[in-house]
Amino acid sequence: MADDSFAHPRLARLYDPLDPDRSDLDAYALMAEEFEACRVLDIGCGTGVFALLLADRGREVVGVDPALASIDVARAKPGGERVRWIHGDATDLPPLRVDLATMTANVAQAIAGPETWHATLRGAREALRPGGRLVFETRDPARRAWEEWTRENSHSVDEVPGVGPVESWVELTEAAGPLVTFRWTYRFAADGEVLVSDSTLRFREREEVERDLRAHGYVVEDVRDAPDRPGREFVFVARRI
Ligand SMILES: C[S@@+](CC[C@H](N)C(=O)[O-])C[C@H]1O[C@@H](n2cnc3c(N)ncnc32)[C@H](O)[C@@H]1O
Repeated sequence: MADDSFAHPRLARLYDPLDPDRSDLDAYALMAEEFEACRVLDIGCGTGVFALLLADRGREVVGVDPALASIDVARAKPGGERVRWIHGDATDLPPLRVDLATMTANVAQAIAGPETWHATLRGAREALRPGGRLVFETRDPARRAWEEWTRENSHSVDEVPGVGPVESWVELTEAAGPLVTFRWTYRFAADGEVLVSDSTLRFREREEVERDLRAHGYVVEDVRDAPDRPGREFVFVARRI
C-alpha cells in the first residue's frame, strides 16, 4: 500500500508541482550513460519523471509503482506511451532482462517492512540481466534528517496550475529507532478540502544495506555521494552476479 501522497488522485497530481527541482535525477541519468544501459527498470517510478527522461533519450524503460494515481499521472504525460507502466511492486514484474534498475528519491526508505524490502531486492535481481546493476539511494541515518521535518521548515503555499493555491506542511509523529513516521497536510484553497498523508520511512545503516545486497546475490561495487545532497545520502551501486 502506497501513502496517500502518491496514491490519492488529488495528491498525486501535486507531486511534480510541489517538487519541481529534480536535479537529484542528474546523477542517475549519468549512471545510465556510464553503465551503457539500454533497458532500464525504474522501481517506485511515481509520476514517471525519471522514466520519461530516459525514454526521451531512447532507452527502453519499464516503470513500476504501487500507487495507481501516480502511474496515471505518469501515463498522461507527453511521451507517456513510450514507457511500459506497471501498477505494483518489484514482485509483480513480467520476465525482464534489464541492464539497470533504479530507485530514485529515497524509494528504498519507503519500502519500510523487512519482507517487502527483501522481496524488492529479489525482484530487482530477477529483472536484471547477469552483470546488470541496481542503483538507489537512502539517507544516512547519522544525519538525522527527520529533525528538520518540522511544520516551521516545511510550511508553504504554492500556486498550482489548474488547482489554485495549496498550503502544505509536514509534522513528525514518531521517530522510533530506524522507523520515522510523519504526516503531510494539504489544504486546497479552492474548496477548502484538507487531505493528510501518513508515511513511515526506514533509515538503514550502510552496513545493513550492503549485507542485504550481498545476501540477495549482488556485489556492492560502490557507495557514492548524492552530488546534490553532499554527505547526506548513500547511493548504492550493486551489480547482479
Ligand atoms: C518519494 S516517491 C519517489 C518517486 C520517483 N522515484 C521519483 O523520483 O519521483 C516514492 C515512491 O515509492 C513508491 N513506493 C512505495 N512503496 C513501494 C514499493 N514497495 N515498491 C515500489 N515503490 C514503492 C511510492 O508509491 C512513491 O511513488
